[in-house]
Amino acid sequence: MRVEGLHKSFGELEVLKGIDFTVRPGEVVCVIGPSGSGKSTLLRCVNLLEEPTAGTVALSGTELTDPDVDIDRVRRRIGMVFQSFNLFPHLSVLDNLTIAQRRVLGRTKDEARRIGRANLRRVGVSEKESAYPAQLSGGQQQRVAIARALSMEPELMLFDEPTSALDPELVGDVLAVMRRLADEGMTMMVVTHEMSFAREVADRVVFMDGGVIVEEGPPTRVIGDPQHQRTRTFLSRVLDPAAASVTEAGTEAEAEAEAETGAAATEGDALRG
Ligand SMILES: Nc1ncnc2c1ncn2[C@@H]1O[C@H](COP(=O)(O)OP(=O)(O)O)[C@@H](O)[C@H]1O
Ligand SMILES: [Mg+2]
Repeated sequence: MRVEGLHKSFGELEVLKGIDFTVRPGEVVCVIGPSGSGKSTLLRCVNLLEEPTAGTVALSGTELTDPDVDIDRVRRRIGMVFQSFNLFPHLSVLDNLTIAQRRVLGRTKDEARRIGRANLRRVGVSEKESAYPAQLSGGQQQRVAIARALSMEPELMLFDEPTSALDPELVGDVLAVMRRLADEGMTMMVVTHEMSFAREVADRVVFMDGGVIVEEGPPTRVIGDPQHQRTRTFLSRVLDPAAASVTEAGTEAEAEAEAETGAAATEGDALRG
């Protein structure tokens, strides 16, 4: 996946201000950044749920932003998992997994069920194939949503804060499934606030703020030893919200003094450990 010079505006509001990055086959890229920085818009432009205002998006050499491209054909090569699961409430788990396989890929009912069941096993919810989404926990629903995306056999999986809507005790199961996918070599782009996941699973971390990529690199650098004050401020808020609100109550001068005395560096060291 190659994104070049990507801009996106909604009317007067410029949300993405020139984004360039690449996700190589088998790579896991975690995108972090404050709310409103454009992370979801970036993912939505990558699979053309939003039309970029300028720039190009290419997947395995096919330019998705080319007006002549059959967008439905390209989009089925990209799986997307949302914060809010987006399962069809009136369909059983297995039917949720087979409907797009049959309608979009033209698979037979038997083949779609076979592939759907294999993916339910992969995410550990086989026993729920006849249940309806409302009968499942949030963590199970999200794992079904992942299995649904996998059943389309995508080249690239996009995750937009997949664990943000979950009760804390259910987050681990979903992250474990994602970790396994990463180990199996799936190419993944993951917007997340789970810093330990990003640190352990990401090949690369991208920090976005205000519609631009502020810094990117291996997690040991971006999370463990960030180069920019904006990154450090964001990380301190995510990692220790209580302490961050105390800092916010302080003055700008205090924050600068803190940065100079190396408080941020200490934090980075703690993270690395
Ligand atoms: N469809 C839309 N119409 C207008 N503004 C939007 C739309 N989608 C997102 N935005 C705005 O774009 C900005 C970035 O949003 P978003 O990409 O959702 O950020 P993030 O996912 O990082 O929180 C926000 O100011 C948001 O209000
Ligand atoms: Mg978002």
